[in-house]
Amino acid sequence: MGRMTTHKIRQMKGKKKIVMLTAYDAPSARILSDCGVDIILVGDSVGNTLLGYESTIPVTLNDIIHHSAAVARAKPNSLIVGDLPFMSYKISEEQALENCGRMLQEGGAEAVKMEGSGRIADRVEAVVQAGIPVMGHIGLTPQSIYEFGGYRVQGRTIESAELLVQQARRLEDAGAFSLVIELVPDETAKKITESVEIPTIGIGAGPHCDGQVLVLWDMLGLFDDFKPKFVKKYANIRSVMSDAVKQYVAEVREGEFPDMEHSFAMEEENSGRLYGRDKPSD
Ligand code: KIV
Repeated sequence: MGRMTTHKIRQMKGKKKIVMLTAYDAPSARILSDCGVDIILVGDSVGNTLLGYESTIPVTLNDIIHHSAAVARAKPNSLIVGDLPFMSYKISEEQALENCGRMLQEGGAEAVKMEGSGRIADRVEAVVQAGIPVMGHIGLTPQSIYEFGGYRVQGRTIESAELLVQQARRLEDAGAFSLVIELVPDETAKKITESVEIPTIGIGAGPHCDGQVLVLWDMLGLFDDFKPKFVKKYANIRSVMSDAVKQYVAEVREGEFPDMEHSFAMEEENSGRLYGRDKPSD
């Protein structure tokens, strides 16, 4: 498909659905790119999925840079978007600019994602003015989970849906090249999508968005205790891994692994001498 760019993503609105998935490592990034995924999001969901945290709050900028750099080393054709973690862009404009710069310089990201609207729109504007493309993120924004009081669907009332439309427009005016909409009813996501010229990318936001995103390890089925309604499991990687590991455990215990197919042999003469035999076969 050639290298994906933010310009191409913008042009896809209304013409072709945008496909985004998260990835946090080089081999996954390579697979996603080879499968034609348009955008790889190095999401702060790395906290819940791979780092063992209960939320995205403890994830640091260095964590995201570390994972983003691994993704970038895979040289995917997909656009790499680095997710700005909790409090890495809210303190001041200077802080946001400095950290976005690190995402590009050290993390190899080609764009950044920021959660929220309101005052965040000013940050978006400053970062875009500095030449760094920004993806917005509205609806349920997990970094504000304590404010929301849990992972609740947003934009269910007319007032809250209209507020989301305003937020989307404000982020578009600030220069965001696209927008993630998380956990809102289909109708609200449709209204937002029709109200802005930038593409919307939904997660738990129904079919009317310009694109879709899922967390890679959720859609691959790595977890059996996490089953949000909006995640479709396209595989059961957990059972594939468990079966393989159980077989390995059994074969090692029984002395079946490694067999000669997976071992190295000496020249017969050397083997004989090593064991003090005159003839190799003694
Ligand atoms: O961190 C992440 O994976 C995200 C997606 C859920 C959009 O922000």
